[in-house]
Amino acid sequence: MKKIPVWIDCDTGVDDSMALMIALRLEELEVVGISAVAGNVGLDHTFKNTRDVVALAGSDVKVYPGADKPWIKPYVDASFFHGSDGLGGVILEESKAPVETEHAWDALYKAAKEYNGELKVVAVGPLTNIATAVAKYPDLPQYVKEICIMGGAVVGGNTTPWSEFNIECDPHAAQAVFKSGIHVVMFGLDVTMKAYLTGEEVDELASYDNPAVRLTAKANQIGLAFNESIGRGRIVHMHDSCPVLYLARPELFKGQDANVHVETRGFSSNGKTVTDLYSLFDSKKAEKNSTVMLEIDRDKTIAIVKEIFQKY
Ligand code: RIB
Ligand code: CA
Repeated sequence: MKKIPVWIDCDTGVDDSMALMIALRLEELEVVGISAVAGNVGLDHTFKNTRDVVALAGSDVKVYPGADKPWIKPYVDASFFHGSDGLGGVILEESKAPVETEHAWDALYKAAKEYNGELKVVAVGPLTNIATAVAKYPDLPQYVKEICIMGGAVVGGNTTPWSEFNIECDPHAAQAVFKSGIHVVMFGLDVTMKAYLTGEEVDELASYDNPAVRLTAKANQIGLAFNESIGRGRIVHMHDSCPVLYLARPELFKGQDANVHVETRGFSSNGKTVTDLYSLFDSKKAEKNSTVMLEIDRDKTIAIVKEIFQKY
C-alpha cells in the first residue's frame, strides 16, 4: 500500500500528543516531518513536548520549531486546560534527537517540494506556521495536496461563544490559510466534540500499561475533571486525532464542501469560521474552499484508538 506523506504541525498539548502517537502508528501514513507552534502553551514547551512525544513513540521523524506568537493578535495560551507545561504535568524522558534549528515554514516548504504535490498537511494548533509558509513561499499551494486542520466551528466555540481556540489564537493566519488556494478539510468543534473518550475508556487505555497510555491517562486528568466540573460529564475530546484518523480512515467521517472564511475585523465575531453550508453567498465570490466535517463514527474510532494504544 502506498503510504500518504504527511506533515504534522502541532502545539503539543494533551490532545496533540495523542494525535502524534496515533499518527506515528497508522500504517497508511508516512509522517515525513513535524513542526511545533505556540498555542496551548509557549513554543519552548510545545517544541520540547513534541520532541519528547516523538521520542516516546520511538520515531526519528525530525521536529522543527515554528512561531512563538501569532501574526498580529497578542498571544494567549490554553495552559488552564493543558497545564503550564502543556502535558498536564506529565514529565517525559527528554528526547535525545538532535535539536533542529531550521524554521518550520522552511522545512515544510522543502518537504512539499520533495513530495512534489503529494504531501498532505495536518495542522492541529494555531495556523501561524502554515500561513507563514504560504506567505514566504507563494508557490507552496502547488505542492500541498490538502491541509486537514483541527480548528474552527460552524456553530459555537470553546474560547469565545463564537470561536475555537486554534482559530481564535491567530485568526489572521487562519484566514490566510483559508484564502491560500490549498483545499482545507476542517475538523471543527462540530465533529471533534463528538470524538470523545469517556473516563472509563481512558481508564481502559491506562490498563494497557505502556508509556503511551501512561502519558495519555495522566495528561487527560485535567480535561476529565474540567469537563465534569462544567456538566459535560467525565469525558475528554480527541480534537487533534480527528484529522490524523481521517487521512488514514476517511470513512470514519462525514462532511460537506463549503466556503469558509475567518472573521478578523469583528468585535463579537473575531476568529469565527464563517461557514456557508447552504451556499447563501454568491458562488462566484465564495468558492467552496473547504470540506467541513460534521459527523464521526465514534464507536469505530474508539476501537481503532484502543487497538493502536494496546500495541504501543
Ligand atoms: O480547540 C481545541 C484545539 O485547541 C486543540 O487543537 C487543542 O490542542 C488546542 O490546540
Ligand atoms: Ca492542538
